[in-house]
Amino acid sequence: MSKLEDKILIIDDDIAIAESLRFALRKDYDLYFATNISEALKIYQENEISAIVLDLKLGNENGMDLYHKLREINPDVVVIIITAFGTIESSVEAIKSGIFQYLTKPIDLDDLRFSLSRAVEMDKLHRRVKHAEDDKLRNLENHGIIAYSSKMKTIMQTVNKIKDIDSIILITGESGTGKSLIASVIHRIGHRKEHPFYSINCAAIPQNLLESELFGYKRGAFTGANADKKGFFQLADKGTLFLDEIGDLDLNLQGKLLQVIQEKKVTPLGAEVSEDVDVRIITATNKDLKKLIEEGKFREDLYYRLNVINILIPSLRERKEDIPYLAKYFIDKYSLLLDKPIHRVNEDFFEAILGMELRGNIRELENIIERAIALNESDELRAIDIGGITKNKDKPYGIKGELIPVFIGENLDEIEKKVIIATLKKMDNNQARAAEILGITDRTIRNKLKKYNL
Ligand SMILES: Nc1ncnc2c1ncn2[C@@H]1O[C@H](COP(=O)(O)OP(=O)(O)OP(=O)(O)O)[C@@H](O)[C@H]1O
Ligand SMILES: [Mg+2]
Repeated sequence: MSKLEDKILIIDDDIAIAESLRFALRKDYDLYFATNISEALKIYQENEISAIVLDLKLGNENGMDLYHKLREINPDVVVIIITAFGTIESSVEAIKSGIFQYLTKPIDLDDLRFSLSRAVEMDKLHRRVKHAEDDKLRNLENHGIIAYSSKMKTIMQTVNKIKDIDSIILITGESGTGKSLIASVIHRIGHRKEHPFYSINCAAIPQNLLESELFGYKRGAFTGANADKKGFFQLADKGTLFLDEIGDLDLNLQGKLLQVIQEKKVTPLGAEVSEDVDVRIITATNKDLKKLIEEGKFREDLYYRLNVINILIPSLRERKEDIPYLAKYFIDKYSLLLDKPIHRVNEDFFEAILGMELRGNIRELENIIERAIALNESDELRAIDIGGITKNKDKPYGIKGELIPVFIGENLDEIEKKVIIATLKKMDNNQARAAEILGITDRTIRNKLKKYNL
């Protein structure tokens, strides 16, 4: 087996030694030689060197200096050090600092060969690990989905299972939970990924325009139709059509959509013949379609057609474990995007975020973090940056000596409401101060006041 693909860099200023190593190793390795630090660094950076043989004494330069520079470039660099016999102590230091092996002069070639073969193995191992990590990171970046809670992990498993099948998918969940993101990821990792993905927000386009947007029209179909126009169904041919906010589609269009799904054909406005369509359909809504059916606003037959595979994305309140990871992800994202390095995140920042209601789910969290970083003037994020307050740990029981009656078994919302009213009154209706005493954020007290119609 030829090992010539493994590149070894030998750094020694003694030409005689370099030559004898060349002679001894040239059949086994692809060899590179350097006699000083700058040469060595250049070669190392330009070639995929597996292992390095380094003489500690390089004329008036110090091999250890080079070693430290190499470590900066690659913390996993595999280096075999050659030292003269007298410098054993420094060799021990060298091993401690991460050097793979040291050999004393005169060099025993068998020892060197043995060390080199192990060094090259070590390098391969490093590269494999690195590669796996890169893959992981790349996946995360590509998909941009943070999923640490068991609920989200289950969803990601489902996504993986269904990515290559064409059954219609209905994604439901509150606003800002990631429905649109999941839809686009299903397309991006699925079997139609080489073909187009179109996302149409059914609520954003006036219904009278939506019909021609979806199905297209023929020239002359109506005044102003000067040329044929393709609809999204035709544009997304072989790809994916994401019908977002499907609950907002009007009844007339619901009927037409049902027909397209059943027949796999569309008829553009003004056309006499229908055209075959081959699209994967994903839909999403934050509305309760069952309720819309009861109210006569959504066709039951369409609902059953769409709801073949349902992905219900839980609200952020139901998967608080994801919050710190999402926060971290958004902090990295926005410090990069806004070019504002954040070096420290105070614990109270996470506490404040975990204490928030986040009715707007991930979108709200993302916005809060973006704003906090945009307005931040230091390299640290603190609760105060998101309007949060640090709890006063010395004063755990609110206002000393003040009590309100609460019944055992009383409804918790009722109790909360009473406490908020009483505290507000005590604070002369100053919301910020009441929130501070209650250990909640301004935002939370506002939300609660709204919730209780106060
Ligand atoms: N698991 C996640 N990991 C990382 N980012 C996420 C995740 N879920 C959602 N996001 C981000 O949060 C924001 C809101 O997500 P998205 O637009 O997909 O929500 P939505 O459910 O479609 O909301 P709406 O109902 O308002 O359309 C987006 O910027 C999205 O990239
Ligand atoms: Mg959406």
